[in-house]
Amino acid sequence: MAEKYYITTAIDYVNGLPHLGHAYEKVLTDVLARYHRRHGQRVFFLTGLDEHGIKVQQSAQKQGRDPQEFCDAMAANFENLYRKLNVSFDDFVRTTQPRHKQVVQTCLQKLFDAGEIYQGVYKGFYSPRQEQFLTEKDRAADGRFPEIFGEVIELQEDVYYFKLAKHQAWLVGHLQQNPDWIFPSFRAKEVLGALEQPIPDLCISRPRARLAWGVPLPFDAEQVTYVWFDALLSYISVIGYDGVTVSDWWPGINVIGKDILVPAHAIYWPIMLRALGLPLPKLLLVHGWWTQNKEKMSKSTGNSVDPLTLIETYGVDAFRYFVMREMAVGYDADFSSAQFHLRYQSELGNTLGNLVNRAVSMIARYRGGVIPAAGDAALTVSEENLRCEVGGAVKAFCDNMDKIQVHIALMELWKGIIRVNQYADENAPWQLAKHSADAGRLDVVLAEMAAAIYLLAGEIGCILPATAENILSQLGHLPPLPVTENPAWPSIPAGTKVGKPEPLFPRIELPVSE
Ligand code: MSP
Repeated sequence: MAEKYYITTAIDYVNGLPHLGHAYEKVLTDVLARYHRRHGQRVFFLTGLDEHGIKVQQSAQKQGRDPQEFCDAMAANFENLYRKLNVSFDDFVRTTQPRHKQVVQTCLQKLFDAGEIYQGVYKGFYSPRQEQFLTEKDRAADGRFPEIFGEVIELQEDVYYFKLAKHQAWLVGHLQQNPDWIFPSFRAKEVLGALEQPIPDLCISRPRARLAWGVPLPFDAEQVTYVWFDALLSYISVIGYDGVTVSDWWPGINVIGKDILVPAHAIYWPIMLRALGLPLPKLLLVHGWWTQNKEKMSKSTGNSVDPLTLIETYGVDAFRYFVMREMAVGYDADFSSAQFHLRYQSELGNTLGNLVNRAVSMIARYRGGVIPAAGDAALTVSEENLRCEVGGAVKAFCDNMDKIQVHIALMELWKGIIRVNQYADENAPWQLAKHSADAGRLDVVLAEMAAAIYLLAGEIGCILPATAENILSQLGHLPPLPVTENPAWPSIPAGTKVGKPEPLFPRIELPVSE
């Protein structure tokens, strides 16, 4: 039976529009899901939305709308974008769905019955904007709370706590014994650093009077669940958890941004799972931030890039390629539209687009559109080298994908594409076409180019799915190549007729202001 691969994204807050950072994470997760699906694993890919909490309640109020109606309208923006991005999710969780809320309540009741949740009082400074209680550490040097917290109020309320403190030593041990549990592993140090101080128990409820928009506690109808406690459980609610058994998709891989590693994913989440008696995620895959002028892109600072505009100008695959190629997973990357344009023009247009276009056009022009069949006997050292290097590029792509080095995987794959272009330049089919004595050689070169593109298209499809389909259709509607451990050089059925050559990445003129 094929190995299971369950992968999730963070679920986005619905109180603003999705930006490049959200889109990046969904594309990264999609690329991994497609890669593992292609390589024979059974994949379940979950994404979705985080719809509860004070921010959503406030945003809805501001617009004079019912929170659910507000969420439904906002959810459409996210789903629409993720479909446009060709994100191949298997399910889309929204934390306001009954199927999710029910599991949250099951978990709360179970933890309450087990004595992991207890009633208490909370007194402190609270930032409604950030939806968090503040501590002395949050004060700026001048003693005031920084601007990002907005108006800070003093609050005392009856609430419920989840026991975190008693699990601290266990969590430290887990992190020390499993240095690869967090990717990249340097992030684990941040978590261990945070765990050097005693962690207080976590306040996991809010009085309904202040915050009505949340999952009611099953054992106290006057309280609703803290949004993080609710949201984290989405990773197990949709796949199925009945309070005893979790679906065998779990444990999975949680893909998240670095801002939500500590404390939510690296402290609350493993402790919640442990208290429920469930296994921890296989991996916390932590990506960096997209910045603009080195500042975190975010909807509140207004420096966000709208993925839809880029998709409209350059196409979805150009967007997917750029974000995967430009950012090393785990590190920050600064967005530059000039750099986007450059990569589009050179790596997509002049390298991949040009290769496919010249191969298909020459087959059309010199061979009436039929991909020639050249026997192995006719191969020279030029083909042997080509096969070896293109095969090597595909292997290097896979090795790097296995290590989640997506940008390096792409560089490796592009070496293969560049190599085929070089092969064409060296063998100059346009010269061979001039002499009938070279007809056999021309057959070999054109067949070889088509086969190389066919082989490369398989892995290209993990990153650029629509482009890969387009390539296969231009190559005469070839079926996707099956993946094997050591892919053989593909053979193209005799008589395959190429389609109409169409540029994959048409030239785009930059607006004059650029
Ligand atoms: N709702 C929580 C996550 C709950 S997961 C159980 C949340 N939502 S968010 O909308 O603020 O962020 C969603 C994801 O987008 C997070 O993983 C976050 O790190 C990521 N990004 C938000 N801004 C980002 C950038 N500028 N760059 C890259 N990703 C960032 O947090």
